[in-house]
Amino acid sequence: MVGNPYRRLRIGHSDALRLLDSKMADPEVDLVSSLTAPQDATVAFYDSNADDYDRATRSNDLSALYPLLLNRLPSGGLVLDAGCGSGRDILAFLQRGFRVEAFDASAQLADLATKLTGVHVEVQRFENWPSPLARYDGIWCFASLLHVARQDLPQALRKLSRALKPGGWLFASFKRGASDTIDRRGRRYTNLTVTSARRLFGAETGFEGVRVWQNSGPSGLGDVTTWIYVLAGRAR
Ligand SMILES: C[S@@+](CC[C@H](N)C(=O)[O-])C[C@H]1O[C@@H](n2cnc3c(N)ncnc32)[C@H](O)[C@@H]1O
Repeated sequence: MVGNPYRRLRIGHSDALRLLDSKMADPEVDLVSSLTAPQDATVAFYDSNADDYDRATRSNDLSALYPLLLNRLPSGGLVLDAGCGSGRDILAFLQRGFRVEAFDASAQLADLATKLTGVHVEVQRFENWPSPLARYDGIWCFASLLHVARQDLPQALRKLSRALKPGGWLFASFKRGASDTIDRRGRRYTNLTVTSARRLFGAETGFEGVRVWQNSGPSGLGDVTTWIYVLAGRAR
């Protein structure tokens, strides 16, 4: 559908990334204990490594992906960047003439994003977010919903759908996989396949016109992964 949206991606193979990796403990994955660990371990990673994460991902070029969402929205419309990290995409949306609101679970990343963009970024989690009714023209969840536990995803999606205006659209990305994983940095992932994503994004979670596809490419911190992309319209 979109060719390779990462062809212009510039991964920050920088000192920041090397520093980040050097801080990681034993790369062996302890799947059982990790998967029962609180979701806080993931957010703690982002809080503890916010500056390095920002330096390693700030210049990632997602400009081939933005139009998939933005071209469906009214010009100057209101976009929510949910799980915005250090604010790279907020800035891109502002530069394209959109109004933006944002939240992120990491207080440190939210602070960096606020400083970068001038948009006040709320410290908030999908799980606790009191979703407004019909507020946004578009919602962008780039590599963020993937940190929500599988059992909490349907409720998070219903809240996101509710927050969209009629005719609004959501874009989300996940890593491809049949089960949940923990990476060597301690981050927990709810992975999806094309099939499980199609099952999840539908009438029950408040979406229609759903398109799901996959594409291989580098992840934000230099690993190679297969991404599952989802573009979904708010159900009428
Ligand atoms: C892989 S990063 C992606 C950040 C940003 N979207 C980007 O593309 O650079 C995942 C982000 O999700 C945030 N996050 C993790 N769990 C979250 C949750 N439960 N609710 C909201 N944000 C969460 C993290 O703090 C982090 O900023």
